[in-house]
Amino acid sequence: MKVSYHGHSVVQIKTEQHNIIIDPFITGNSLCDLDSETVEADVILLTHGHNDHVGDTMAIAQRTGAQIVAINELAVYLTQKGFQAHGMNIGGAYDFDFGRVKFTQAFHSSSYEEDGTFIYTGMPAGILLTIGDKTIYHVGDTGLFSDLKLIGDRHNIDLAFVPIGDNFTMGPEDALVATDWIQAKYVVPVHYNTFPVIEQDAGAFVERVKTGKGIHLKPGESIDL
Ligand code: NI
Ligand code: MN
Repeated sequence: MKVSYHGHSVVQIKTEQHNIIIDPFITGNSLCDLDSETVEADVILLTHGHNDHVGDTMAIAQRTGAQIVAINELAVYLTQKGFQAHGMNIGGAYDFDFGRVKFTQAFHSSSYEEDGTFIYTGMPAGILLTIGDKTIYHVGDTGLFSDLKLIGDRHNIDLAFVPIGDNFTMGPEDALVATDWIQAKYVVPVHYNTFPVIEQDAGAFVERVKTGKGIHLKPGESIDL
């Protein structure tokens, strides 16, 4: 499968049968190389309800008919909007036709802002996605927490997407500790440089990753997994 990064927390996974996108924040994301009107997706996975993660989900699902998978309250909200959304919650896993999804905890907040109102969207999360014998861990937006070690011990993680931006999530120093605990074979930093308050040097970060190989993917670049 081909796993590509598209700025902020946007990750796309292309397998022979499926086109999966995580947190498709395209419109308003100056770093994103994708076009909301042409991006292909049959599955959209969401870590939480913040607008910089839900992003273009509704426009993409409207055009492509993509199935959405999200934390229950966010899934119910999207279902009420007329979309096909599968609700899950922290610690739960489900085998879909495209792969197995397990939601993990994340220490963050979660709501969707619409017309100046905050809509409750349940808990923020990380996503463990297993396709065949490969497991991808999208850590989501989170601060450092010690159960990342438990998650790393319990799952054989091939590729982890770890936030390094600081301010809204863990910064580089905490993210380095997280990578030691997650024990992924490959580590890709995300959630940085989109806004001035989360500017970070991803190249310097990946050089400092000790457990696994740090890879600085620029928007549009990919890894064959
Ligand atoms: Ni967030
Ligand atoms: Mn965010």
